[in-house]
Order: sequence, then structure tokens, then C-alpha cells
Amino acid sequence: MADEQTVYLNGQFLPITEAKVSVLDRGFIYGDGVYEVVPVYGRRPFRMAQHLKRLQYSLDGIRLANPHTDAHWRQSINELIERQPFADQAVYLQVTRGPAKRDHAFPKGVAPTVFMMSNPLVLPAREQVERGVAVVTAQDNRWLRCDLKTTSLLGNVLMRQLAVDRDAVETVMFRDGHLTEASASNVLIVHDGVIVAPPKDNLILPGITYDATLEIADRAGVPLDVRAVTHAEAMGADEMWLSSSTKEVLAITTVDGRAFAGGRPGPVFRRVYEAFQQAKADAK
Ligand code: PDD
Repeated sequence: MADEQTVYLNGQFLPITEAKVSVLDRGFIYGDGVYEVVPVYGRRPFRMAQHLKRLQYSLDGIRLANPHTDAHWRQSINELIERQPFADQAVYLQVTRGPAKRDHAFPKGVAPTVFMMSNPLVLPAREQVERGVAVVTAQDNRWLRCDLKTTSLLGNVLMRQLAVDRDAVETVMFRDGHLTEASASNVLIVHDGVIVAPPKDNLILPGITYDATLEIADRAGVPLDVRAVTHAEAMGADEMWLSSSTKEVLAITTVDGRAFAGGRPGPVFRRVYEAFQQAKADAK
């Protein structure tokens, strides 16, 4: 089919139906790999350097050598972007420890598997931006290396499904009485006009959008405080937001089925959302 999606696998661009990986790939058998999702506006990747830096951090964290230089990654990602028929994209890339006889220990002399695809970037609908979205809450029961962007996502998958089961967009998690993040987003709160963000420790993914949001808010003159957030503080916050590469920033207006923070996106959200849109436009 002429309009079939072109993907990248181990150095080759090919139609998605021809991209094949061994059933022994450690990504399939163990979820032994890492990934990135890079938003692309008007065919230009947003914060590419930061995504490549986090990729290196995740690879180091699972002791897997980076198969490419940053220059090589940039070139392949740009080529993948050019090969798609749409301008706003979400590039997904993953590196796994490759195919090997099943044994938990790292295999020797095996080339990693590198896969990339790019889908249309589907941002939240206007109504979701204007009215905010619903979340549910749960205890964070994932492992203690949530700072690594690994393809082993079962904990996150089960959390996300809790939200879907209750017609919500995300599950906001708490560990030992403190806010961590959501199943596929970071979570920020606003208290007395100050954005309060949980620290980037081993319990959350160091979100590129989290960083972008804090930087943009700082430039717009909104005060910031990076510190642990208790469950009580989060539930009593003036505003609560989600951030991710595919959601940008989104206000939470329903929590566990009840209206939250007046049931409308707050003033700090509206200000930072506008500044975020401007920063995106400036980056194009
Ligand atoms: N998810 N926390 C988790 C657990 C995530 O999976 C993500 C992103 C984030 C936000 O990170 P960033 O701002 O860098 O996108 C936080 C991506 C989008 C995904 O898995 O599809």
C-alpha cells in the first residue's frame, strides 16, 4: 500500500507491515528496553536535546550502551519525520537489549534492537483544555526506578486502565502519603499562587514537559517551589495539572468523581497554558 506508515528498524526505513522483530527479543520477553516520546510541531522536534539526554540517562540506568551518537539519532529522527505525511507528530523510539536465548542475565555480543515510528500528534481537545479533565487516584505500587523511561510499563498500564474504567483520563498516584505522578504524565499543583512540583527523584519520570512548564512559568513570573507534596496538600490544592509530551499542560477539574478546585481550570493554569503555546510557537 503506497500510503502505508514508514517506520525505522535497525537502520532501515520500511513499511510498518514489513518491520519484524524476533520473538526472542528481550523487549518482548522481559520488557528489557527504554524509550522516548518526542513531540514534533510543524516537523520540528520540541526539546530534542533534552529527550536525547534522558534517553542516555535511561540507557545508563539499564546498563545498555547507546547504539547511536546524538548526531545520528537527530538525523534518523528527522528523516523519519520527513517521511510522514502530517506535520505535527509524536515520535516514539525504543532501544531493547536485542534477541537472545532466554536467560535473565545480559547476553554477550548481541546488537540492540532500535525501533522508531511517528504518529500524528493528537493533543487534548479544545474542550479538555477549557474545561479541564477528570482523574482518579491510587496508591503508587510501581518499582523504585520510575526515573527510568523503560518499556516495562505494566505498573503504568494497570494504573492507566483504572482511569479508563472510570471514564477519567489519568490516575494520579501517591506513595507513602506523597504525590508522585500519573500513569503517563507528571503532576503539578498550585497553592497560593505558587506552582509546587514534586522533586525529580527516583519516584517519578523526569518529564521534559515538567521542565518546560516550570521554565516557561518562571519566565512568566509565576513563583515555583520544588518539594514533596503531601496527599492532603494535593487534595486541597487550588489547582492541579497534568503535564506530558502529548498532553502539554492540562488542568484537572474532577478527582475521584468529585469537582476539584471549583471544577474549572484556574487562573495560574490559564496563564501558563498561554505562555506554553507561545513558547511552542517561538520554537518553530
Ligand atoms: N509518557 N511520567 C510518566 C510515567 C510518563 O510516562 C510520562 C510521559 C511523563 C511525562 O514526561 P514527558 O513530559 O517527557 O512526556 C511522566 C509518554 C508521553 C508516553 O509514555 O506516551
